[in-house]
Parts: sequence; C-alpha cells; structure tokens
Amino acid sequence: MTSLLMTGIGELTSCRTEPGVASVDTRPDAAFVVEHGRVAWVGPAREAPAADQIHDVGGRAVVPGFVDSHSHLVFAGDRGQEFAARMAGERYAAGGIRTTVAATRAATDEQLTAGVARHVTEMRRQGTTSVEIKSGYGLTVLDEARGLAVARQFTDDTTFLGAHVVPPEYADDPAGYVALVTGPMLDAAAPHARWIDVFCETGAFDADQARAILLAGRERDLGGRLHANQLGPGPGVRLACELGLVAVDHCTYLADDDVFALRDSGTIATLLPGVEFSTRSPYPDARALVDAGVRVALASDCNPGSCYTSSMPLCVALAVREMRMTPAEALWSATAGGALALGRDDVGRLAVGSRADYVVLDAPSYLHLAYRPGVPLVAEVSGSTL
Ligand code: NIG
Ligand code: FE
Repeated sequence: MTSLLMTGIGELTSCRTEPGVASVDTRPDAAFVVEHGRVAWVGPAREAPAADQIHDVGGRAVVPGFVDSHSHLVFAGDRGQEFAARMAGERYAAGGIRTTVAATRAATDEQLTAGVARHVTEMRRQGTTSVEIKSGYGLTVLDEARGLAVARQFTDDTTFLGAHVVPPEYADDPAGYVALVTGPMLDAAAPHARWIDVFCETGAFDADQARAILLAGRERDLGGRLHANQLGPGPGVRLACELGLVAVDHCTYLADDDVFALRDSGTIATLLPGVEFSTRSPYPDARALVDAGVRVALASDCNPGSCYTSSMPLCVALAVREMRMTPAEALWSATAGGALALGRDDVGRLAVGSRADYVVLDAPSYLHLAYRPGVPLVAEVSGSTL
C-alpha cells in the first residue's frame, strides 16, 4: 500500500453534510493522508503521520474537487450564431435544442466520444472531479442509447433525458413520443443510466407528461431529476418535491409555495447561473432559498445552447456576485451540494473516508474563487478519474 501525505496546505476547506448542516470548515496549516484514493487522516501539518510519499503544496489552499451534477456533454455541432443572436436581443427558447439534435444524430460514435472526452478534460482542468452527463440530443431509441453508452465511459452518473423536447418527427403526436420515451426508449436507455430527467417547461413537456415519464423511470430503478421553472413559473418544482426527487434543476422562477415545497421535501435546488449569464436572464433567488433552509447545489449545465461553459469556478463567482451567496455557501453548493444532488456521500468533501478528490488552488484561500473571477487558479487536481 502506498500512502501519500499532502502537506504545506495554507488553508484546507472541507464541507459538512450532516442533515440540516450546510457549512464549510477551514483549517490553516493543514495536511491529509491519501490511501487507496481515500482520505485516511486529516489534521494539523505538524501532527501528520509518516507516509510513503510527501507532497508539499507550498502554502496554497486546497478544496474538495467540484461535483458538477448537471451537464449535457453528448452533442455535436455549434450554436455560436444562436448565442450571438441572443446577445443582440433574441430570447432563448426550448426549440434551439432541435438544432443540436440534428447534428448529434449525424455524428459518429467516435465523434461523440471525442467531444465528451474534450469537455471532461476541460472540466477537470478547472477542478471538476465528478460529473453527471445527460443524453437528450438523440431523441430516437438508438441515438439515446448510444449517447448514454458514450457518457458511461466517463461517469456512472449518466442521465436519460429522452424527454428533452418532442423531436420534429413527433411534432403532431406528442403523446406518441411520450409513449416511446416510457416504452422502447426507456428499455434501451435504462442499462446505461442511473438517472432519468425531463425538461418540464412550456415548449417541452407538461407536468402530467413529466410525472408519467419519471414514474416509468422509477419502475426501472432510475432516480428522478427534473429541469423545471427555467423559462417561467410552472408546476415542475412542486412536482419534483411531491415525487421526492433528489434534485430539481434551474429553479429560476419560483413562487413562495415552491420554496416551501423545496424546504419541506428536502429536494435539492440545483442552480445553474451560467445559464442566466449566457441567456441574459434574471438569476434565481439563491438568497431566498438558502435563507429558507433549502439545500442548494451549483452546477454548470454545460451544453451548446443555453450555457456553453464547463467552468465551476465561474459558477461560484456568479453565485456570489449575482445571486448573493456567500463564498462559503457557493463553495459548499459546488462541492457537497452537487454530491447530495447525485445522492453521493463519497465526494464533495475532504474528510476521513471520503474520496481524496482535491483541488490545489494557486491562492491562499478558497475566497479567491469568487474574488478573482476568470483567473485560472486551479494549480493541481487529484489523480482520480471523473
Ligand atoms: O438545461 N433546458 C433544457 N436543456 C438545456 C438547454 C439545451 C439546449 O438549449 O440545447 C438546459 O438549459
Ligand atoms: Fe440542463
């Protein structure tokens, strides 16, 4: 067995995730020991035990690797023109997804795999050590199954999103498409997926359709998650809470009842501030959610349409500057919050027993993630795979 002592840590930050607790712990002059990819010991550097290897990070800050619990990396094509049109005043609408569907269907497996690999590498360079990846740009039985098989090469947290939009060939028969998603498409997707998701929004799927799809997934042991309340108020967040889903994502337009439902159900509200940035939309009211006791995760939503960033540090900076989260809350949400949103307790913190997924920052404190927006502060990422 080889043990590694990480020492010379100027500030080590971990996250607490006991029920009802969402806070970070920082300790100065710290060290931790890694054995078999797990944290075996954490404490003051001066009390560190002997180890086979020693790595001194020279006073830098160390944080848990980011857990990006929402991404759409299986795609082909580019929608830079759509972004430019949006910046010139056009509104974002669900229909743009169909552009990427056409390009994705036309791509080979190798092209799709290379695209995911490129984006996963990009994420990793920015400190992401765990990622969830959705399908949703295939929208045929074969294309959804192959998209998930591609994603599975990179993570166990794969999500079947056949219910992203109704594809053009079913434009006149949305009920037929829901039957396909809950029938043959689910059969083909389930072996490659851990989660099932629906875009519950005007222009995509309504609450009844979403409920039917999520319940069909549950029959196949897929955990449910939902895209909801992104483009306007709607029933999605309350549906997610009623069904006891682990997470509901976007949560941009919330009524008081939605906030109460989130608080009472324990469903994680995953906020995706890169989307509001990239679609020039109002940001979700993170402050109201946190103050109400709702547990909040932050994720990138990396996709070619509404938000083409893979940067969790950017999301942290936006959460602090634009959504009034404290730097500590934002770091917690981008690490422990993401882990909870994926039902995982092995990542998102650096405590004895957790995976030793860490990020060394070229900075004295995690505060610099928000204090120095846009600066590549990630000096080193632990060796574990995404
Ligand atoms: O999470 N909202 C639905 N799906 C993606 C956008 C997909 C696209 O525009 O291609 C999202 O924002
Ligand atoms: Fe999304």
